[in-house]
Amino acid sequence: MKAVIPAAGLGTRFLPATKAQPKEMLPVYNKPTIQYVVEEAVNSGIDDILIITGKGKRTIEDHFDKSFELEYNLKQKGKLDYLKQVQDITNMADIYYVRQKKQKGLGDAVRCAKKHIGDEAFAVLLGDTFTYSDVPCTKQLMDVHEKYGGSVIAIEELPEYKIERYGIVDGTHIEDNVYGVNNLVEKPKLADAPSNLGITGRYVLTPDIFDKLDSTDAGVGGEIQLTDAINAQDEVYACTFEGKIYDIGNTLEWLKSSIDMALTHDDVKEEILLYLKEKINEN
Ligand code: UTP
Repeated sequence: MKAVIPAAGLGTRFLPATKAQPKEMLPVYNKPTIQYVVEEAVNSGIDDILIITGKGKRTIEDHFDKSFELEYNLKQKGKLDYLKQVQDITNMADIYYVRQKKQKGLGDAVRCAKKHIGDEAFAVLLGDTFTYSDVPCTKQLMDVHEKYGGSVIAIEELPEYKIERYGIVDGTHIEDNVYGVNNLVEKPKLADAPSNLGITGRYVLTPDIFDKLDSTDAGVGGEIQLTDAINAQDEVYACTFEGKIYDIGNTLEWLKSSIDMALTHDDVKEEILLYLKEKINEN
């Protein structure tokens, strides 16, 4: 299976940080967000990845490219740990790029992958959203797709205050963490929400999505919504993902994700916890 990572968005919610740099390159502790995303695809068994880029996103390509000068420098200075880290980034997967010419929404970004994907099911991982779990989120979706066929979307149970900001699933429970999707409702009022199950930014899509995208009209702000096209598909499942998911396009969530990832590093964990305790006492 191939993967598509849409990373062409404007990142308006994270201005001014995203004025001259892609939000997908913002570091979460010590790695750019999009590296976590690529690692998730690779750890799910995917080695062919198409990143949808756009204007001002060239550092994404540079990050995954070989850097002869940097490698030479690190080798000369004997910094072999760093050298390995830098080389691993380049060797992780075959990464391809296509540019979305105008930011016409996530649906339009996915449509840019049509030629590269062809006629097979493929994974979509939003470039500004990363996950943390034992079994990679995308692998969990691939397993559901293998069992049931159809498109599969990752969902999470949302607290009430978040429901009006998400696409919400109207579904029928099938087994354990799997639902059959009857309908997807984009950002409903809390009172009208069919459930508390929100769409999170990971998908396995069957290739008929491209025809559905072609016949999807632009919605709010002239954007083509991926949710509308998935809604038009005949067979869609939703899978409650086991793990944590972070949308770093939101500044507060980005900050929390950085703390959480830093706490997974034993060399800094104690110091961070002490610092946080100090802050709590001060406030
Ligand atoms: P978002 O809607 O969160 O990204 O899209 P955005 O448009 O950059 O956000 P704001 O509202 O302006 O802050 C989720 C993912 O889809 C990509 C984004 O790069 C992000 O990774 N995307 C979005 C595209 O590739 N193209 C688009 O036209 C829109």
